[in-house]
Amino acid sequence: TGYITLDEGYVNTGATTSAITFLDGDKGILRYRGYPIEELAKKCRFIEIAYLLIYGELPTKEQFDHFRGMLFRHTMLHEDMRLFYNGFPRDAHPMAILGSVVGAMSTFYQDSLDPHDQEQVDDSIVRLMAKLPTIAAFAYKKSIGQPYVYPDNSLSYCANFLRMMFAVPSEKYEVDQDFVDALNLLLIVHADHEQNCSTSTVRMVGSSNANLFASISAGISALWGPLHGGANEACVQMLEQIRRDGSNVKKYVDMAKDKNNNFRLMGFGHRVYKSFDPRATIIKEACHRILKKQAIKDPIFDIALELEQVALNDPYFIERKLYPNVDFYSGVVYRAIGIPEQMFTVLFAIGRLPGWIAHWVEMHANPAKKICRPRQIYTGPSKREITPMDQR
Ligand code: CMC
Repeated sequence: TGYITLDEGYVNTGATTSAITFLDGDKGILRYRGYPIEELAKKCRFIEIAYLLIYGELPTKEQFDHFRGMLFRHTMLHEDMRLFYNGFPRDAHPMAILGSVVGAMSTFYQDSLDPHDQEQVDDSIVRLMAKLPTIAAFAYKKSIGQPYVYPDNSLSYCANFLRMMFAVPSEKYEVDQDFVDALNLLLIVHADHEQNCSTSTVRMVGSSNANLFASISAGISALWGPLHGGANEACVQMLEQIRRDGSNVKKYVDMAKDKNNNFRLMGFGHRVYKSFDPRATIIKEACHRILKKQAIKDPIFDIALELEQVALNDPYFIERKLYPNVDFYSGVVYRAIGIPEQMFTVLFAIGRLPGWIAHWVEMHANPAKKICRPRQIYTGPSKREITPMDQR
């Protein structure tokens, strides 16, 4: 009550303290639990990172084996859950399917909905981490009309996902280790980014003591938007459009500067990074690596490199400190792996899941936790009388 500070878009409002991710936007630093992202991307597996984010420390060998074992036990979907897929239109966006099926997990696992029961929370964490790749791959198989491929728990988290995406019953499927490594790296760099829009959504929903499945489903919806996770799909569509339009990069840079035009350079700019986004640097290197190793010539990578150069030398982008963000090059790597555009944001969701969970768990562990309830400054009419309908 009384004095309210207005901060549209929460540009300067701290919503919480957090011990999960450190981010310095001016220096381009990102660390999970104190470890630099560059090191983690080089030396760790995604499941280790998930454990680190959620439980606070890198796992010992025993802890890792236990966690991995638990995940493997839960990769299958309940057969009734698989039936949901029959009801979605064939051209449904996989992000819509992902959000719906994750939301529906709260109907299948009613024994793990209590946010204050540690055992139930641990169960829901394992179920979400284990099943999200299966839910995602089934959404893709549905969209192309192929039979669903059930999980193979002898494979790693990433290899299993690629197999569920790309294997077909009539052919032998060999997982390419370069693709597994690239996917592992992409999931790691997406795993957390402190109080971003989807994470704040997960916290906001969770603050009412809604269960973890419901909170994560809300986070998936928030991530879908093109200003957030949806930017990776929008970015590749933009690069494709530039290619079809004669690869005239400058024209698009000029369009993005034009204030009478809504067009923005997708994959450029960030609320917090005001110098380079360290994730973009890591992914750009991975792009070079995988395209070279697989001898892939992707014209949109060349367009992306040129676009970056032109924009970074343009006063408009320099003055506003707009640099490529995580979504600028990730799509090129996904394409190299064979992942179609409509699945890019789904991959972001699989990567971000441990971050969402970690923040939800951290919020509930905080004795000062309160329901999130921002205030407003009312700008509508002052008190007035109702005119009877026949006189309006
Ligand atoms: N292209 C052209 N101009 C831009 C862009 C862009 N991509 N991004 C920001 N600007 C301009 C904007 O028009 C504004 O100019 P002015 O001061 O003249 O009004 C100025 O830069 C500041 O932008 P803002 O919209 O006030 O900044 P914000 O912090 O509210 O928005 C952003 C951050 C990421 C939403 C925005 O940069 C954007 O729309 N980028 C394109 C979408 C994108 O790549 N999103 C992915 C973000 S990173 C991963 C993730 O969050 O999922």
